[in-house]
Order: sequence, then structure tokens, then C-alpha cells
Amino acid sequence: MGSKAKLSKRALETDTPVMVQIQKLMRGAKDAISLAQGVVYWQPPEQALEKVQGLVWEPSISKYGADEGLPELRQALIEKLQRENNLNKVAVMITAGANQAFVNVVLTLCDPGDSVVMFAPYYFNSYMSFQMTGITDILVGPTDSKTLQPDIGKSLIKNHLLTYQIILCFSPLIGAEWLERTLSQDPVPKLVTVVNPGNPSGAYIPKPLLLKMSDLCKRAGAWFVVDNTYEYFMYDGLKHSCIEDDHIVNIFSFSKAYGMMGWRVGYIAYPEAVDGFAAQLLKIQDNIPICASIISQRLALHSLEVGPEWVQERVQNLIKNREMLVQALAPLGEENVKGGEGAIYLWAKLPEEFPDDYEVVRWLVKKHHVVVIPGSASGGPGYLRVSFGGLKEADCEVAAYRLKKGLEELMKDGMVE
Ligand SMILES: Cc1ncc(COP(=O)(O)O)c(C=O)c1O
Repeated sequence: MGSKAKLSKRALETDTPVMVQIQKLMRGAKDAISLAQGVVYWQPPEQALEKVQGLVWEPSISKYGADEGLPELRQALIEKLQRENNLNKVAVMITAGANQAFVNVVLTLCDPGDSVVMFAPYYFNSYMSFQMTGITDILVGPTDSKTLQPDIGKSLIKNHLLTYQIILCFSPLIGAEWLERTLSQDPVPKLVTVVNPGNPSGAYIPKPLLLKMSDLCKRAGAWFVVDNTYEYFMYDGLKHSCIEDDHIVNIFSFSKAYGMMGWRVGYIAYPEAVDGFAAQLLKIQDNIPICASIISQRLALHSLEVGPEWVQERVQNLIKNREMLVQALAPLGEENVKGGEGAIYLWAKLPEEFPDDYEVVRWLVKKHHVVVIPGSASGGPGYLRVSFGGLKEADCEVAAYRLKKGLEELMKDGMVE
């Protein structure tokens, strides 16, 4: 039905969530198996679930809680941040997941019309959070074509105009300190954001690079926002690190680590010394969730008590899935399969003859009953994102078989129906 009343330009001009498109695609395909969604296959720790089972009748569960989060969970997180992340001068706000944490941070730090910086391929929801809050000047920097780490010394790219492939082919021509030059613009971009380790690339950002980026932000007067959703998802002896300073905001999530996707708990670690930060953040929080679900916060607290070893054990079991999927992607050529050092993702380049990644994804679903994410959704057209976290080993084996068969056919005969 029509209406004379208009929808907001901000919403209209925000990208459509790729997962919604993928779910639609899956509904139309019989028996499709998914390597698409960024999820883990495990449930929260049994001990923690058992503890919250009996809580539903407790009156406090049904009431609003403190906006910032349950005091006991905040205290436990302050201790966890000190112990595990070496963050000692931060305050904590608990949110309904890391995505809401990111929106809170953007609304607290940015105004419509500000410019912000991210690196392609980027996490699509961060990009959408900027779009929907009226930030249209999204400066997208390149990543190193080998490591997929932010390449802070390459060319300046503006959103919508140029994409990942173009960045990669133009960047060597321009050289020099890309991030430094970008941050010396007037007005200075409001914030720089990265995901570590990355979604969609699975690449991790080593501490020296984080420090260098942070230093450039500090000198320019920009915020540095780091999404650590996959902090525990590190492989092959690599170590995730966090850094802190008065211009750094770190975001975390319970979703993947503790299999708590549907419980919706994340948190923000922000610099406690910055005047007004807490007060402004609280306004945003009070107008979006008021507080994160109380029973979910209680589950988060009990999951923390179980501890990171529980998570790490499950994460290390994902290595088998990763291996199977690296093999499945092999028909694309070894040099075209990257990432997977951390998080739950591999990032694979399609052959030049198949630049339309959405079309390849649709074909893989229809013909081979396996689902992956088109790179275009993350500013990386011509690429595929493959998740190795969502399936148990036996199911992953089936998915890997289908994917390999599909890609072999693609390379040999193209997208025959
Ligand atoms: C980098 C990153 N940040 C945030 C999220 C969302 O996490 P949450 O469920 O805590 O909102 C995801 C989920 O895929 C993610 O990959």
C-alpha cells in the first residue's frame, strides 16, 4: 500500500543485509548446506545453561537492569580485560551484541557528514552502521594483497566510487603513507575502524601494525575502533592482542566464543579517562536497548566462569574444517585462497572470467546445494567468503565435497545449468 509519508533517505540508502538475501536464496534451494553465516556450531557451556535454567522465576530477570550492564558482569569483564587483553584503563558497557556496540560507538562519536575510515574487504555491518547513521563519506582503504592486513601506505579510495579490485590494481601506483595522508585531511576523519582478526578475510592484525595505526589516529585526533569479536579464534600459534589509549575503543562479543549468538551479549571497553564519554554513550544505550537482556547477561557471567580454555578447545577443533575447505577451494588455485589465520573465514578470488560473485553464489546454491557469501557485500567483488565455523566436522565434509565439485565444474565448463 502506498503512503505519502516518506521513508528515511538514510535507511533507503543503506545496503540490504547480505544474510537476508542469502537466506532468501536458501529458502528456494532444496537441501542446501551453508558455509555462509558467520556462526559457530556449538551451544553455550552446559554448566552455564544449567545455572540460568532455574532463573526465569526470579523477579530481577523480568525487570530493567542498569543501562551499562549488570554490575557483577561488568566487574567480571573488567577483570577479564585486564587479565586476558591487558586493558587496564577502560570502563565497560554491556550491549545486545557487538553489532549494537558498534552502532552505540558510531552514534556516540560521529555526526552526519563526518568522514570515517575502514579497509576493504570490510565487515558489511560496520559499513551499514555508518550508512544508516548518516555518514556518507566512508573512506575505504586497501589491504595488502598477500596478508590481507590493512595497507596503510596505499591509495585513497572513496566509498561507492571504487571497489576492492580497483584498489588493488591502482594502489601500487600511488604509494606513500595512505592512512597518514587520509588522516591529514581537513576536517580530520572522525574514526578509523578495523576488525581483528577479520571478517570477511580471517586475517589478523599484528600488534605493531595496530600500534602504528593507533599512533597515526592519535596524532591526527581521530578515534580508533577495534572489533575483537573473534579474539579467541586464532590458529597456528598466532596471538591476538589489544591495545589501549584515550582514543581507542575496543568491542567484544559473547556470540561466537560461547556459542551465544541468539542471546545477544557484547560489550564496549572505552577509555575511562575521557570526559563525557560514559555520559554520551549512556544516552544512546538508553534509547536503543535500555539494557541488554538480563537473563542473557547472567548466562554471559556463568560462561565467563567456565573460562576461555573451553572456547579455545572448540576453536582449535575448527582447524579440521578449515583444512577441508582450503582443499575444497583448491580448484581456484592455491594463490587465490587467503585468510583463515584467525576468525572463521577463508577469502577466495574467483577467476577473471567470473567477475559477478553474486551470480556464482546463486549458481553454487542452485546447482551444487552449497551456500557461501559473495565478496561484493564486503567491498570485494570477484571474491567469495567461506565460513568454517558453523558446521560440525561431518557436515563440513559434505559441504566441502559439494563446494569442490562445484568449483571444479566452474573452472572446467563454467556455470552450466
Ligand atoms: C566482526 C563482527 N562483529 C560483530 C558481529 C556481530 O556480533 P554480535 O552477535 O555480538 O552482534 C559479527 C558477526 O558476524 C562479526 O563478524
